[in-house]
Amino acid sequence: MCGIVGYVGSRNAVPVLIEGLKRLEYRGYDSAGVAALEDGRLNIRKCVGRLRNLESQLHDTPLAGSPGIGHTRWATHGEPSDINSHPHTDSSGRIAVVHNGIIENYQELRRQLEARGHTFRSETDTEVLPHLIADELAAGAPDFEDALRRALGRARGAYALGILFADKPDTLYAARHGSPLIVGVGVGENFIASDVPAILNETSRVIYLNDGEIAALKPGGVTVSTLEGRSVQPAIKKVEIQAEAIERAGFETFMMKEIHEQPRVLRGLLDKHLDANGRVQLPGFPLAADYFENLSRIMIISCGTAYHAGMYGKLLLENLTDIPVETDLASEFRYRNPRLESGALVVAVSQSGETADTLASIRLARKWGCKVLSICNVQGSSLTRESDAVFYTEAGPEIGVASTKAYTAQLMAFCLLTLFIGRARGTIDDNLERALADALRRIPDAVHYVLGRKTEIQKIAGKHHDGPSSLYLGRKFNYPTALEGALKNKEISYQHAEGYAAGEMKHGPIALINEYLPVICICTRTDDEVYDKMISNMKEVEARHGRIIAIATDGDQSIADLAEDVIMVPDTRDEFSPLVNIVALQLLAYYAAQARGTDIDKPRNLAKSVTVE
Ligand code: F6R
Repeated sequence: MCGIVGYVGSRNAVPVLIEGLKRLEYRGYDSAGVAALEDGRLNIRKCVGRLRNLESQLHDTPLAGSPGIGHTRWATHGEPSDINSHPHTDSSGRIAVVHNGIIENYQELRRQLEARGHTFRSETDTEVLPHLIADELAAGAPDFEDALRRALGRARGAYALGILFADKPDTLYAARHGSPLIVGVGVGENFIASDVPAILNETSRVIYLNDGEIAALKPGGVTVSTLEGRSVQPAIKKVEIQAEAIERAGFETFMMKEIHEQPRVLRGLLDKHLDANGRVQLPGFPLAADYFENLSRIMIISCGTAYHAGMYGKLLLENLTDIPVETDLASEFRYRNPRLESGALVVAVSQSGETADTLASIRLARKWGCKVLSICNVQGSSLTRESDAVFYTEAGPEIGVASTKAYTAQLMAFCLLTLFIGRARGTIDDNLERALADALRRIPDAVHYVLGRKTEIQKIAGKHHDGPSSLYLGRKFNYPTALEGALKNKEISYQHAEGYAAGEMKHGPIALINEYLPVICICTRTDDEVYDKMISNMKEVEARHGRIIAIATDGDQSIADLAEDVIMVPDTRDEFSPLVNIVALQLLAYYAAQARGTDIDKPRNLAKSVTVE
């Protein structure tokens, strides 16, 4: 979603802001802007469209100064337009604000402020903030920080803010409530950002602001206080991510780079958590084996791709442990009045750790006294800070908007947790544990093998990409794979794609099948009956002249005979086949998108981290 960068120091802020905003482009945006203070004047450049539009505006009418704030906007209130872009100012143009989040009571505030003579220019919720601050100054707030505090006391909703005052030229203010914001600590200069990558080339020392905190940044130091005015001693943390991790490293897109990183990411998790005997080790994990022994229920909550990982987690846990597991979309869970007992464990799955619905759901669960375990990729994110235990997926920064390596890492996290829990509850004995561990150790190579077939996959995508729609079918462990494959396709190629449980086909989607519809059937060999059932489903597609693209196990001639195209993958234990099969579907979606000429790393309308409901 929206991105924020801010700078205070002796350099010209503008190039620092532009560089930081470029590093946030992956989050998704539709307009951009910067403000900088020079000789007591606040100057602003902003426009709709990509950052290159803003850069050309800056080329024509240059801007310099410090401090400065920058923003990439993902429209919520008011269409993408020059006027609605951030920064926004008060009527006098002496207070400028950039904002991520939503001010829920903005209409009521706007009416009050307009009645008092404030002139609004945009349709945004954000614009009430600079006016509110100005209103508090006019009403006698003793200083700028106090005016900011009072203004925020009147606003309801979520925000991460960067604020400049023309009359306070040595200070950049920041505030956070419900939307992520960090302070980057430099030498003789300081930064703010909505996400670490924005400032990683400048500093690796950061302060993670907490909800309800305000920071005042000067070139020589940072002070933090609460909304109530109590001063806070901020903890400065060292970020472990290397700046190179957010480069493309020779790949044509971040998504392709991240698809290729999967064997390494998966191997890293296995090396860290599987010991030489095939036993899962979770050193320092706050939930010990005896906690799981007595656990009555698990509730998995997540959104989008992470929800598909949660569906897989449920299947795996229920197959290999005896715990009842439910899964739900966070956006449904939080409003459906779910019944949860305090002994249940809530597992939240999130790449970013900042997804608004997932955060709201765990807060709800905590109210019932449930413990929260998060499976998360971003250290220091809100989710990890609000969880009782965290399993880090350690996939490294994921910049491509469509999730790939974070997804397979989430699946692997569920595999490892299942082995741990199954052992604790006695449902996985020594022999099974060894067999599962051996099979898991083969996954990175199997993924590597699929990557090696990408030219073939590209050819298949080239044949099928131009239709209006496609259908993805899978069963049991690969039902979530079908949903995730379809999601990848629609996200990046914009081709309509339905993911379905193959057994449900007869109950409706079979009506779609004709000689033009590509039907992607995940039918890797399994020891149980779903393999035969899947073949029957494929025959039903064949009988109606659907164009079958099968994901099958190497050497499976019966499927090769049935399908128009086959992507062969290595023989993998049923339970773990989704970690391999999805990679073929990621590549299929990728090459379809490439053939359709879309912006693969930044698909239209999408945001990397969905920090609003
Ligand atoms: C799809 C995708 C999204 C996210 C969803 C949840 O490729 O990335 O569907 O999975 O927005 O995001 P996180 O995992 O950050 O909570």
